[in-house]
Amino acid sequence: MTNRDEMTLTSSGFYVSQEAPIHTDNPVPTPKAPAPDILRCAYMELVVTDLERSRNFYVDVLGLTVTEEDENTVYLRSIEEFIHHNLVLRKGPVAAVAAFSYRVRSPEELDRAVDFYTELGCRVERRSEGFTKGIGDSVRVEDPLGFPYEFFYDVEHVERLAWRYDLYTPGALVRLDHFNQVTPDVPRAVAFMQDLGFRVTEDIQDEEGTVYAAWMRRKPTVHDTAMTGGDGPRMHHVAFSTHEKHNILAICDKLGALRMSDHIERGPGRHGVSNAFYLYLRDPDGHRVEIYTQDYYTGDPDNPVVTWDVHDNQRRDWWGNPVVPSWYTEASTVLDLDGNPQPIVARTDASEMAVTIGADGFSYTRPGEGEESMPEWKKGEYKLGHQL
Ligand SMILES: [Fe+2]
Repeated sequence: MTNRDEMTLTSSGFYVSQEAPIHTDNPVPTPKAPAPDILRCAYMELVVTDLERSRNFYVDVLGLTVTEEDENTVYLRSIEEFIHHNLVLRKGPVAAVAAFSYRVRSPEELDRAVDFYTELGCRVERRSEGFTKGIGDSVRVEDPLGFPYEFFYDVEHVERLAWRYDLYTPGALVRLDHFNQVTPDVPRAVAFMQDLGFRVTEDIQDEEGTVYAAWMRRKPTVHDTAMTGGDGPRMHHVAFSTHEKHNILAICDKLGALRMSDHIERGPGRHGVSNAFYLYLRDPDGHRVEIYTQDYYTGDPDNPVVTWDVHDNQRRDWWGNPVVPSWYTEASTVLDLDGNPQPIVARTDASEMAVTIGADGFSYTRPGEGEESMPEWKKGEYKLGHQL
């Protein structure tokens, strides 16, 4: 339960507090074993059904760099990266996510990862030769939320191409920024991730304390991963950064010129949450990719936690543009360590779509005013079925 009296309302319309204002009555037990010291999200392994089409999308259209490839796998990195890859495309029968992979601070942290997840009764697999090319000793787990997580330290270094301006495209992707996971019980997921050493930077709640989504970080940005409330475990998106806003507009222009505008799902726009400029794309298998730039520094220990009201229609788009329903409902299957799809558990808390754009939902632009204060033409944007 959240008490807004304990938060400070800012002049921008959201609330801030010093402690993560999320509590769960259904926690994953906290292990006695210490959590591994995680540095950052490092790469995602995606299973794709048509490797050539996916390679075209990520390499020829989005401009990621091929580190290495064979007939079944393509290893890709962003232009500022010095580790072997940020994205693995692996050919397979069903589009899915095989791993959310994080880099840890030292080789010894892998022992900690094994102990931490073993104590929780999770399935844990360690391979000294790694699960993918370019990466050595690694641990993969099926975590208590049902996600396939990986941890590694040992990795092949490759050339950081940041100075190679001859290689930059107008929409160059410079870094992997974050993952986003769909999970039915957001407070349970957040409490578990806090045990794993993550800190909450922002969240979306209603006045009764229902939590719709939360953003969590290890590196000093808004997030390394986010938990989005919905039927899960599923993968909502993987996000790459550009240097500037205009790089994102260049990607939109290029997709239009290639007659590939149907890969654009949402945006471009400015987020409320994270303050970043964004664009959501769908790859040939429907995996969602966000292009993201210019969030803010969060590294101080007393970094204020931001809480958005779920009915604030500027929380997900600062310009008040509505979120398309597919963005709320569709997400990628995640796999267990044998490569089988993880079963989906339905969300029982209220859905963000239902409370904002559903028949009984509402959104406001100015705090303290109801939806009735919106102009008539704008109200319709927030109701399903009002679109032409
Ligand atoms: Fe994102």
